[in-house]
Amino acid sequence: MPQSAAALVKKLRREIEEHDRRYYILDDPLVSDAEYDALFRELRELEERHPELIAPDSPTQRVSGEPMEKFVSAEHRFPMLSLDNVFEEAEMTAFDLRVRKRLANERVAEESDAVAYCTEPKFDGVAVSLLYRNGRLERAATRGDGLVGENVTQNVRTIKAVPLTLRGDNPPAELEVRGEVYISRCGFRKLNEQAGRDGGKVFANPRNAAAGSLRQLDPRITAKRPLLFFCYGAAPASELSDTQKGLLDRLVELGLPVCPEVGMIEGVGRCGEFYRKMLDRRDALPYEMDGVVFKVNRIDWQRRLGELSRAPRWAVAYKFPAHEMTTTVRDVVFRVGRTGVLTPIARLAPVEIGGVTVGSVSLHNMDEIGRKDVRIGDAVIVRRAGDVIPQVIKVVKARRPKPAPKKVRAPADCPECGGKVAHREADANVLYCTSAWSCPAQRKAAIRHFASRGAMDIEGLGEKVVARLLEEGLIEDSGDIYRLHEKKERIAALDGFGKKSADNLISAIDRSRTVPLERFIYALGIPEVGETTAGSLALRFKTLDGLERADEEALKAVPDVGDVVALRLREFFSDEGHRGILDKLRAGVHLKAPAGATGEAPLTGRIYVLTGTLPSMTRDEARRRLTMLGARVAPAVSRNTTAVIAGEGSGSKLDRARELGIEVLDEDALLRLLNTGRK
Ligand code: IVH
Repeated sequence: MPQSAAALVKKLRREIEEHDRRYYILDDPLVSDAEYDALFRELRELEERHPELIAPDSPTQRVSGEPMEKFVSAEHRFPMLSLDNVFEEAEMTAFDLRVRKRLANERVAEESDAVAYCTEPKFDGVAVSLLYRNGRLERAATRGDGLVGENVTQNVRTIKAVPLTLRGDNPPAELEVRGEVYISRCGFRKLNEQAGRDGGKVFANPRNAAAGSLRQLDPRITAKRPLLFFCYGAAPASELSDTQKGLLDRLVELGLPVCPEVGMIEGVGRCGEFYRKMLDRRDALPYEMDGVVFKVNRIDWQRRLGELSRAPRWAVAYKFPAHEMTTTVRDVVFRVGRTGVLTPIARLAPVEIGGVTVGSVSLHNMDEIGRKDVRIGDAVIVRRAGDVIPQVIKVVKARRPKPAPKKVRAPADCPECGGKVAHREADANVLYCTSAWSCPAQRKAAIRHFASRGAMDIEGLGEKVVARLLEEGLIEDSGDIYRLHEKKERIAALDGFGKKSADNLISAIDRSRTVPLERFIYALGIPEVGETTAGSLALRFKTLDGLERADEEALKAVPDVGDVVALRLREFFSDEGHRGILDKLRAGVHLKAPAGATGEAPLTGRIYVLTGTLPSMTRDEARRRLTMLGARVAPAVSRNTTAVIAGEGSGSKLDRARELGIEVLDEDALLRLLNTGRK
């Protein structure tokens, strides 16, 4: 019996390691999370019954050891070098010329020979060195001063992208792997959202989050952080391969994660192309890069070139424009949104970040201002990464004017209407103008939202037109929009309008009269009710009356409706003013019940897997729409999968679907499914 338990333990460990590798290293999982968890549980139970079989490199032992008092120092066997930076193509050409001259001096090449470079992203994380002895991870250390770092083995062991044992039967006796521990953009966002909910530490950027997570004294905390790993080198390199690219390929064979974006160029001529390609993809890749790295490919040449003051002469980082810039806060003003919430906005001395001029940023709320201690006149670091809205990361306190400016105070009156400002009962950080519908800013913003694209989608009813109609007293709220046809002459007579524009506006309004219930609910602009929640509410209650009548219990039974959303809904529908508007709207619009509104959501119980690029829809959108109809979207194909939705470039998931005989749908079929709830 123990014999077979030992064999089973071994088999389960192999299987789990392989799933970890497929998930974290190849980004191509074969099983769903639930199947993985089941294997893991089975192994853990077996080890509990046979404690003699527990080994330090078992996947169950990733989190182990007691919290540390402090980190112990760790000496690197080979120094951890840093990289020289360049910022322009001309500097790259100069780097290449220096390389060729030196190689010519060393008599290993002609100066005119093109040098082959291995091209890699420059990952924006934390450098670590992993020591594998006889294929087992023995020690992990941070860079420190390049010679001595900190021993972070317990923490690095929790990172599933880092194998505890190397693959293959013949691992090197001793191998020091170099790479970058990082957190993906999405992992970073989730981590900060969680921190926001629990009152934990909010990180400024993914790099700080990775560094902070790696420097936890308690590995159980690190284990909860979404840390990932890419390796970009190893020492001694020449024992593994003749070339940098060959070295990376060998590391992949050993089961280590290497970024799939690495490549090769022959001669410096192509470096600009690689740089621009990666810069273009900067926001599309799931992790942050701060540039690209070029490394002389031949390892014997690397040795000949050597290093100068801790940076190799054979490698260089060609940096991207910074995501973060320093500027000054000229003023802090308060903007009134459609729900009356006052948002503090920092007006900045305009600064260009990643090709966009940033002149103002939201400071979110008073708590945030307090936490960051932002004052007028302060120098601040502003970050704008990808399509994320710009943020103030922190104040550069050393540059604060003297005497120090006063703290920013919350206004007592609404800057738009002079009405009283109060704190929201559920969240004292949130200030709002109590005038509700009599505050023109709120009214205008609410009508604008009502007419906007994802809502009633009334073409031509933009910011300026709404402001105009309000000023002229032609409308007072959204309910009046569907009576505007009675006032067509007056609209036509407005400055800059004329008959044609008035006609167009009225036709656009008429076209919007028939609308799916979910869009209408979203258009009402109920606080906390976004498109997804509106979709769930429409599916559950089927009619506006149904939603209006729903009590708190019934509301809370809807997916993604919690206490706060239920409260906001009840507040909205019990407000006299809102009821008046709804009465006017009922007379003007026709609401379509959602597809399959009889009974449960039409795709309940079905499981889809998305793979490849669809011609017109993003994967996120497809996922959102499927989930809105009650389907589940799984990361991997299994026997339970209803169908695989495959676009261009579908890989192993499609193969797996074929293997299991699972139906494969293209985008057209998906659209039919989404529109009708049927295949
Ligand atoms: S090679 C031999 N390759 O950048 C040179 N470093 O400024 C040693 N980094 O501390 C580094 N991506 O943390 C190398 N593809 C890459 C890299 C990379 C990010 C970091 C690394 C290093 C710093 C050097």
